Amino acid sequence: MGSSVSFPITQIPRDRIFIVTGANTGIGYELAKWCAMMGGTVILACRSEDRARKAMETMQEDFEKERAKGTTGLTENPTLALEFMKLDLASFESVVNFCDEFKKSGRKLHVLVCNAGLGFAAYKQSADGLEMMLQVNYLSHFLMIAKLLPIMRQSGPDCRIILTSSAYHHRGTFDVATMNYTGTANNFPDLNYYGRSKLYQVMQAYAMTTRLKGSNVTVNSLHPGFVDSELFREADKGIFKCCLGCFRCCGIMVTTLKGASTSIDLATNPKRAGMSGHYWTDCKIKTSSSTSRDEQKQEALWKATFPFIQKYLTESEISGMEGDT
Ligand SMILES: NC(=O)c1ccc[n+]([C@@H]2O[C@H](COP(=O)([O-])OP(=O)(O)OC[C@H]3O[C@@H](n4cnc5c(N)ncnc54)[C@H](OP(=O)(O)O)[C@@H]3O)[C@@H](O)[C@H]2O)c1
Repeated sequence: MGSSVSFPITQIPRDRIFIVTGANTGIGYELAKWCAMMGGTVILACRSEDRARKAMETMQEDFEKERAKGTTGLTENPTLALEFMKLDLASFESVVNFCDEFKKSGRKLHVLVCNAGLGFAAYKQSADGLEMMLQVNYLSHFLMIAKLLPIMRQSGPDCRIILTSSAYHHRGTFDVATMNYTGTANNFPDLNYYGRSKLYQVMQAYAMTTRLKGSNVTVNSLHPGFVDSELFREADKGIFKCCLGCFRCCGIMVTTLKGASTSIDLATNPKRAGMSGHYWTDCKIKTSSSTSRDEQKQEALWKATFPFIQKYLTESEISGMEGDT
């Protein structure tokens, strides 16, 4: 008997290591679960240990149900290789601690999925005094990549960085002078700043691909679709709640498994090896916004990003991001 999923189920060796941020719920949950069900070792990089451990238990139960259904191609191992590591993307210190701890373990890293994200929420400031979506969705993931890239460069062929962006990147204004919102909370244009953070991720994938050309590491971004996840938890009230209800009834929103399909495909499908610098939707390459494809703007963003995080990086981590080994 087969599974009805839209990505191929591939045998993955247990020593292939995945890190998935925001793996305790939504798209990240399905992604982490399927990477582990195919055999890989998956580190759930989450801010709440409690939520992550509950998710790990449920993943194991889902795995047992999937095996009982007779789905072929799943790992023979009766227990999924799932681990928790604490990561709060709202704090650069937490990102640094996460990366230091991972480095200390001496393990390889093959796939890093920057999936965690915040959206459609009122203005909030991070522990570092920055607008929250800028930091959680973009800057902290950028810092994490810069710190873990040297490990990935030493982890053998076919290492992959995947950035979960959004079609909403089309709605983000490109203006590096106002990357960090400094206006009043009441006037915060939340949808525009969500779009901006997602635009930066698409642009980062392009800028990094140019720099890592010919290396063992690929970088891609994706739009998962309009997914019925917890992303709208803060917006799930008032008129928006009614709209969400309608979207759910009309089937406009897809399940978290369907929403995770492109991420799972990019993380596990052997056919994606070596493919880099693309923006994906529905497991296919799509054209991202013209702004995101503008190389001058990509370089302007690259330069504007470092001042936010430079103090947490060593010289060699910075030159590693420029493509030096
Ligand atoms: N849902 C959609 O329609 C849609 C559309 C386009 C793009 N996306 C993107 O898809 C990605 C996954 O979203 P989702 O829909 O699965 O949403 P979700 O169900 O809300 O999951 C988001 C995940 O991010 C984690 N997270 C939030 N803030 C964090 C922080 N400070 N540190 C560490 N982790 C944090 C959450 O952890 P907690 O559970 O602890 O809060 C959760 O695990 C996001 O990047 C989102 O922008 C979603």
